[in-house]
Amino acid sequence: MSRAVITSIGGFVPDDILSNQDLEKMVDTTDEWITSRTGIKERRILKGEGKATSYMGVQIVNEILQKRGITPDQIEMLICATVTGDMIFPDTANTILDKVGAKNAFGYDINAACSGFLFALTTATKFIESGTFKKVIVLGIDMMSSIIDYKDRTTCIIFGDGGGGVLLEPSEDEGYGIIDSILKADGSGRAYLHMKAGGSLKPPSIDSVLANEHYVYQDGKPVFKAAVTGMVSTIKELLERNKLDMEEIDWLVPHQANMRIINSVAEMLDFPKDKVMVNIHKFGNTTAGTLPLCLWDYEKRLKKGDKIILSAFGGGFTWGSTYIVWNY
Ligand SMILES: CC(C)(COP(=O)(O)OP(=O)(O)OC[C@H]1O[C@@H](n2cnc3c(N)ncnc32)[C@H](O)[C@@H]1OP(=O)(O)O)[C@@H](O)C(=O)NCCC(=O)NCCS
Repeated sequence: MSRAVITSIGGFVPDDILSNQDLEKMVDTTDEWITSRTGIKERRILKGEGKATSYMGVQIVNEILQKRGITPDQIEMLICATVTGDMIFPDTANTILDKVGAKNAFGYDINAACSGFLFALTTATKFIESGTFKKVIVLGIDMMSSIIDYKDRTTCIIFGDGGGGVLLEPSEDEGYGIIDSILKADGSGRAYLHMKAGGSLKPPSIDSVLANEHYVYQDGKPVFKAAVTGMVSTIKELLERNKLDMEEIDWLVPHQANMRIINSVAEMLDFPKDKVMVNIHKFGNTTAGTLPLCLWDYEKRLKKGDKIILSAFGGGFTWGSTYIVWNY
């Protein structure tokens, strides 16, 4: 069996910064509260007429292609994890493929909120392992500013815009690449994290807009607790299944939702903080974007053979962990 290995990475964050000091002028909050409760100092916001999630996707794909030295027509498939596609339909993957000129590819979106990149990466891995395709791009991108209520201090402090992606290719060396994944879901968690209107359950209306139901609704505490237990339990299961100890792991890449969640996960696993990838202070929670943005941010520090665990938790609830041995 061929393994799926990551051969190129791209990332994108918009230039515009929304700092804690900016938020102090918008809602009843303080830099001190946001920093101590979440670890976030600033986040990026995509601005500009006609710019949406696909705009970020195009920048990411172009970086991936340029770094790997291949052309758009060589892409065979693209999976885009997002909850903020340009439109409800069509999918944003196809818009991105059209905009980059990938004439030989097809694609689709995956909606698994903050776990979306792991769900997409695992799906794409199967297409490589089965020998179906040789060049698959996996993206995790969100423009959270499009669904956030900047009058709600409990959510607007957390989320930001951005994302990243990887190119997967086959390798005959079984020791490298995407080795294993554990993915989980519990739909009853939808009660705590969702958007009330805009879907078929409650199509958008003047009333739904006046009631702010087109924005993210979150009950933070149950999400926080479920995130810690879900990430820790799937990491432990993954270690056991692959006969690994946490001491053998070079990098933990946790979803960047809240610095206290990240610290709790590391502490429960007795894992050193300097081996945990963190950029939440710069970018906040970019939903499907956080994991590839971390890999992109830390790419220069990665070495061939590094053992890496990615772990995420998000709306659905969805959660999971993936074990990768770095390939370059
Ligand atoms: C949202 C979150 C940061 C809130 O932190 P928390 O420590 O749970 O805070 P609480 O909700 O208990 O609120 C504590 C107090 O701070 C207040 N508060 C909430 N947001 C605030 C803000 N931005 N500034 C100042 N005070 C705030 C609350 O109103 C509450 O006040 P009260 O005690 O008078 O009622 C936290 O629950 C969290 O990160 N949850 C998980 C979110 C997540 O991961 N989401 C993404 C999906 S994975």
